[in-house]
Amino acid sequence: MPSEKPRIMSGMKASGALHLGNWMGALSNWVRLQQDYDCFFMVADWHALTTGYHETSDLPQRVSAMVVDWLAAGLDPDRAVIFVQSSVPLHAELSLLLGMLTPLGWLERVPSYKEILRELEQRDIHTYGFLGYPVLQSADILLYRATAVPVGQDQVPHVEMTREIARRFNGLYGPVLTEPEALLTESKVLPGLDGRKMSKSYGNTISLGESNQETTAKIRSMVTDPARIRRQDPGHPEVCPVFALHRVFSPASRVTDIEAQCRAATLGCVDCKADLAATVITRLEPIRSRRQSWVDHPGRVNEILAEGARRAEEAGGQTMEAVRDAMHLTSARTPDAV
Ligand code: TRP
Ligand code: SF4
Repeated sequence: MPSEKPRIMSGMKASGALHLGNWMGALSNWVRLQQDYDCFFMVADWHALTTGYHETSDLPQRVSAMVVDWLAAGLDPDRAVIFVQSSVPLHAELSLLLGMLTPLGWLERVPSYKEILRELEQRDIHTYGFLGYPVLQSADILLYRATAVPVGQDQVPHVEMTREIARRFNGLYGPVLTEPEALLTESKVLPGLDGRKMSKSYGNTISLGESNQETTAKIRSMVTDPARIRRQDPGHPEVCPVFALHRVFSPASRVTDIEAQCRAATLGCVDCKADLAATVITRLEPIRSRRQSWVDHPGRVNEILAEGARRAEEAGGQTMEAVRDAMHLTSARTPDAV
C-alpha cells in the first residue's frame, strides 16, 4: 500500500506489560503520529537478548504482553505496521552488512554502552551482541528508509549513529540509505510509587493491564511529602510524587486546588490519593476495556503480527535488494558473474 505520508519507524525492547510511564512517554506519541505518518512499530525481541540472553523462556510472553498493551493504547493495525523484529530476518542481514563498516570506536563511544555495562555489572554482557546493539538498531531503522524516528532523549545517540552509518554506507556504495532524523517527542517522565522514575526495574509501576483495585491499592501506598507527618502539617506538593501524577492526569483546575489545599493542610494525603486513583482509573478505563477484548482474542493478535511481518518484509525487501546490488552481492550469486 504506497503512501504519500512520510515514514517513521520506532521500536521498544520486548519487556512485557507496559506501565503508565510507557504510555505517557512513547506510546501516546505513537498513537498520535499514526494520523500523519506511514508508521512501522516494532517489538525488538532481539534487542532484549543483548542484555537478557541468559533467560529467554518468557520472551514469547513478553512480546505478546507488549503488543496487547500497544493495541489497547490505540495503535491501529489498519494505520500502522505492527510487527516483531525476529519475524523479519532481513534485520539480521542488514545488521551484519552494516557491522562490516561500523568502526569499533563509534560503538564504544555510545554513552549508554559503558553506563549499562556498569549498571548490569552482575550480568555478563561483555558480548559482541551488546556492543553491536546500535548497529542492529540502525538496521531496524534503515531497512524501512524511515525519514524520522520518534524516540525519547535517551535514544538520540542511537539515531545519530544510524545517520553516521547511513552516510558511511552511501559514501562507500552510492546513495541507497536514507538518513533519518530523531523526532524528539516531548514526554513526561513519571515518578513511580516510591518517587523514583517509574520503571519496571524498580518495581514501582502502575501497569496498564492491572485491575482497578490494584491501582487503587498501589496509589494508597505511594510515598508523599516526607515532612508531612500529621494531617495538620502543611505539605509541599513540589516534592510529592502523588502531586506529580495529579499534574499529569488531573484537570488543571483540580491541580491548582490540590496544590493550595495541600499547602494549607486542608486536604489530607488519604483523600488526595483517593482522588488520584479515581482519576487514573477513569483515564485508563478505555485502555483497560480495549485490552480485555484483545486478551480475549489472541488469534486476532497473531494475525495482526503475521500481517505486520508480511508488510515489513515487503518494504524491507526492497531496501535489501538495493543494498545487495550496491554492494555487488546480488551478481556474486548469479553464475554469469563467473
Ligand atoms: N533501543 C530502543 C529502546 O530501548 C528500542 C529499539 C530497537 C528501537 N530498534 C529500534 C527504537 C529502532 C527506535 C528505532 O527502547
Ligand atoms: Fe502529596 Fe496530596 Fe499529601 Fe499534598 S496532600 S503531600 S500533594 S499526597
